[in-house]
Parts: sequence; structure tokens; C-alpha cells
Amino acid sequence: MSPIDFKNNFPRHIAIIMDGNGRWAKRRFLPRVFGHRQGVQTVKNIVRAAHKLKIEVLSLYAFSTENWKRPAEEISSLFDLLLTFIKKDFEEFNENKVKLRILGDLSKFPQNIQFEIENVLEKTKNNDGLQLNIALNYGSREELLRAFRVLKEKNIEALSESAVSDLLYTAGQPDPDLLIRTSGEMRVSNFLLWQTAYSELYFTDKMWPDFDGQDLEAAIIEYQKRQRRFGGL
Ligand code: IPE
Ligand code: IPE
Ligand code: MG
Repeated sequence: MSPIDFKNNFPRHIAIIMDGNGRWAKRRFLPRVFGHRQGVQTVKNIVRAAHKLKIEVLSLYAFSTENWKRPAEEISSLFDLLLTFIKKDFEEFNENKVKLRILGDLSKFPQNIQFEIENVLEKTKNNDGLQLNIALNYGSREELLRAFRVLKEKNIEALSESAVSDLLYTAGQPDPDLLIRTSGEMRVSNFLLWQTAYSELYFTDKMWPDFDGQDLEAAIIEYQKRQRRFGGL
């Protein structure tokens, strides 16, 4: 494997659709929650790897606006895992100057989760390391509608791409250069539709709990082989 080129063509923003926790567990004859638990370990590894690689922005799709369709017990175990992650695991990230942003509408989440997240947002607000975006109750269409509503309310006549971008959860951040999805599924499932207009897509059959720092590096190396044309020649 050729090494990563850190000087040229290095991705500024990597977005990941973390998929396959349930199937990972099923293959081991375990309940789905075991897959989610292992998935959190992967999140920690990948945040560490992204920090070491000095990636500017990492966006992780953790819970979609469509995931409310899942059984209540699964949703509640995901909330438990999220709470521990935010309360406990973020300590280490904070030391590494990781800055948190939530993509999505948190108001549907339990009060204690909202409270702990606010806490971490406040604590990490002056950090200047990796920008970690966690998408929670996130849906790209909902995000766009929200932006369009503001434009309408403010009666903004001069519609422009940047006027829309500035109203998205990712406002001010570069668009993802690379979008990774694990578990062999090849769809975007309502993730960052506007922002990924020209992202390079990378699919791997690995289930999210099996994805590691080396896989992230392999995706970056593959990305660096692509020729991005943005419609030009
Ligand atoms: C991704 O794994 C995690 C979330 C969507 C919360 P899944 O739970 O979708 O796992 P599969 O796709 O059923 O294997
Ligand atoms: C996408 O995974 C959402 C997250 C990773 C949070 P899903 O498992 O929900 O997507 P579909 O249903 O297979 O499209
Ligand atoms: Mg899935």
C-alpha cells in the first residue's frame, strides 16, 4: 500500500456512514446492541486516528431522522451508549483539543442527553483540534427544509448557494472531500445530500465494528488516486 501523501491532495473533511452494527452482531449470534457497543469502540478508534492524521473535520452519522422507526428498546440502548460516550469518553478527546458539533435536531432527545451534550459543547468550544461532527436525529432533507424556512421567513430575495450552505448544520465548514460507508450498502441514506455534491464516495464491505485506523488510511489512499474534476476537464 502506498503511503498517504500529507502534503498534496489531503482530504480536509471526511464523512462516514457508520453502518453494519446489527449485522456484525447477528453473525456472532448476539443481540444487536452488542454490535452498537462494539461500534462505539470503533468510533473512539476512528476519532483517535483522525486526530493523529490531522484531519480537519470528521462527520459521523450516528442516528438518522429515519432511525426512530426502530424498536424502542434498540433506540433506548443507543441513547445509553451515547450518554456514556459523551459523559466519559469525551474527556480524552477534549485533552486532544477535539471540538464537538452536533448535526441535527436534539430537541427530540431525552433531557439528560441534551444536558450532557450542551456541557461538552461548552467545554470544547475553544478547542482548535479535530472538528468532530456527530449527526444525531439528522436528515439531510430536514436540514434543507429548515434552511429554506429561514430563507422564506427572512424574505431573503438574493438566494444563493452560500446563503443555503450558511444555514446548514455544517455552516462554515468545508464540504466533505470523502464520504465513506461501511457494511457494503451503497446508498447515502439522507446524509449530507447538499454538502456531498462533489464528494468522492468510498464503500467497504467491512461492518462498522470491524473498521479500524488502517481502513481509514486505505480509504484516504484510494481517495488520493481519484481525479476530481468538478465538471471540468
Ligand atoms: C448502524 O448500524 C448504526 C445505526 C444506524 C445507529 P445498523 O444498526 O444500521 O446495523 P445494520 O445495518 O442493521 O447491520
Ligand atoms: C444510516 O444507516 C444511518 C446511520 C448510519 C446513522 P441505516 O442503517 O439507518 O440506513 P438504511 O436504512 O440501511 O438506509
Ligand atoms: Mg444499517
